[in-house]
Amino acid sequence: MSVDAIAVKMAGLQLSNPTMLASGVHGSSLAKVLEALRVGAGGAVTKSIGPVPREGYAEPTLVEVEGGMVNAAGLPNPGAERFSEQLAQVKGRGLPIFVSIFGGDEKEFAQVVKTLDGNDFVAYELNLSCPHVSGVGTEIGHFPEEVSKVTKAVTVSTKKPVFAKLSPNTDRLIEVAQAAVDAGADGLTAINTIKAFPISVETGRPALSNGFGGLSGAAIRPVALRCVYELREKFDVPIIGCGGVATWEDAVQFFLAGASAVQLGTATVKKFEIFNDLNLGVISYMERKGVARLDDLVGRAHGGGIR
Ligand SMILES: Cc1cc2nc3c(=O)[nH]c(=O)nc-3n(C[C@H](O)[C@H](O)[C@H](O)COP(=O)(O)O)c2cc1C
Repeated sequence: MSVDAIAVKMAGLQLSNPTMLASGVHGSSLAKVLEALRVGAGGAVTKSIGPVPREGYAEPTLVEVEGGMVNAAGLPNPGAERFSEQLAQVKGRGLPIFVSIFGGDEKEFAQVVKTLDGNDFVAYELNLSCPHVSGVGTEIGHFPEEVSKVTKAVTVSTKKPVFAKLSPNTDRLIEVAQAAVDAGADGLTAINTIKAFPISVETGRPALSNGFGGLSGAAIRPVALRCVYELREKFDVPIIGCGGVATWEDAVQFFLAGASAVQLGTATVKKFEIFNDLNLGVISYMERKGVARLDDLVGRAHGGGIR
């Protein structure tokens, strides 16, 4: 079977394969995004970029836990103007870079788009789902009215496709997704981290400087799968699955649940060159199951499954 079998067409985009680097896990430098593409990812998402530079929280910002890690980095990023200069360096290369953006309201989102939009990247991902920074992320992303305003402000400001990245920390997942889709979002990414609170027994204090953080890694995969499954039941727009993907089996579960592509974050911390192996595993699974194209797998858990 040729690698063309796992090429992805979604929201007017073409990716050579369905594996992507998830936003933020390797910080805000564009270098890691480019490296992910070099080592086989079909797409890569930048760190979330806001209207002005942000330093983020003091250390410790990351702790390992069973089945993953909890982070509260505090969205450190260089701000849209400086990041635009970084992006200008890849102009003309046609790379499948998704730029993740955040802001405190629709005006800030629109301002970030205005600053970045002339650069050469293929799509936006709206961070409506960071669980540990006040005034942004879930403080917008749990409220359908806010999501609607922000998404509309972005979609009217760009011709590039827009993916809304959703939070699992709400019982309004479907309402929030509906608001994003109604406001013109071309696709959905599910999920961001799950709100968490690790404690150090040595100090008797919160293990993260911010106290609250976001859980990522294998532990969150069943929750992410549930979200993708629920979203696919309701929506026809493309869904990108994210949360605990580390092996081809994990990726296939997301495709069966309804995702057209998957993002990898935590797994790339242990092994960055993971994308090719995962793609090869998906291809041999498809060969074994007689599935000619990746598209034919997407959403199969909703119907008769697979033999
Ligand atoms: C250290 C760290 C930083 C992150 N930064 C961002 C970010 O800037 N924007 C965002 O949308 N998600 C961010 N995330 C969430 C990831 O993109 C991803 O949604 C989450 O980690 C679940 O995927 P995983 O289990 O494969 O890591 C971050 C996660 C980690 C661990």
